[in-house]
Amino acid sequence: MRIDIISVVPDLLDSPLSHSILKRARDKGLLEVNVINLREYGLHKYKKVDDYQFGGGAGLVMMCEPIAACIDELKAQRTYDEIIYMTPDGERLNQRAVNALSLKGNIIILCGHYKGIDDRIRQLYITKEISIGDYVLSGGELGAAVLVDAIGRLIPGVLNDETSALTDSFQDGLLSPPVYTRPEDFRGLVVPEILLSGHEKNISDWRYDQAVERTKQRRPDLLGE
Ligand code: ADE
Repeated sequence: MRIDIISVVPDLLDSPLSHSILKRARDKGLLEVNVINLREYGLHKYKKVDDYQFGGGAGLVMMCEPIAACIDELKAQRTYDEIIYMTPDGERLNQRAVNALSLKGNIIILCGHYKGIDDRIRQLYITKEISIGDYVLSGGELGAAVLVDAIGRLIPGVLNDETSALTDSFQDGLLSPPVYTRPEDFRGLVVPEILLSGHEKNISDWRYDQAVERTKQRRPDLLGE
């Protein structure tokens, strides 16, 4: 899978994309992530990428021409399954959307800044608009990092058995059950006995019951309650 991220602050993406699971995915050649500095497509001597908004009002708007030039260049090299714009007024991201995106081949993610992008880019190029939550970030980069992390760990071969995504919260519409490691007794709090029993079926039933109970208490909306 290939993801091209267009940003005016590419440095913001360096660290999240170069560690842990995403590093492994890239090292294994399972995920190619390419960060493009939009400024390279900026206009005139100062490589301008933003301008005042028509109609007045505070805040700059990202201009059409640099974004269009950048996306056109990418599209001339390969076809893209989605061109995603990260924005607080997009569709709220959830595991279902992440699962679907992890099956795609090539994706562009455009990060907004300032007051956002000229609406004509949304009309002409963008196929999907994604928000990572009901709050406003100073730019789309952190949202893009969240999205790429969530997608990357689902690509077959990225996670090993120990980190399998199948038992993640949300994968079966339930939150995860509690987990424990050594020691068995920590400050008087002991690990539930069933987990020490070695009885696989009982352990799996217990985990399921705990997952349902947790979901009921914390996220009844996931159970349609
Ligand atoms: N850019 C600014 N706020 C955002 C959000 N909540 N989600 C995605 N991109 C954003």
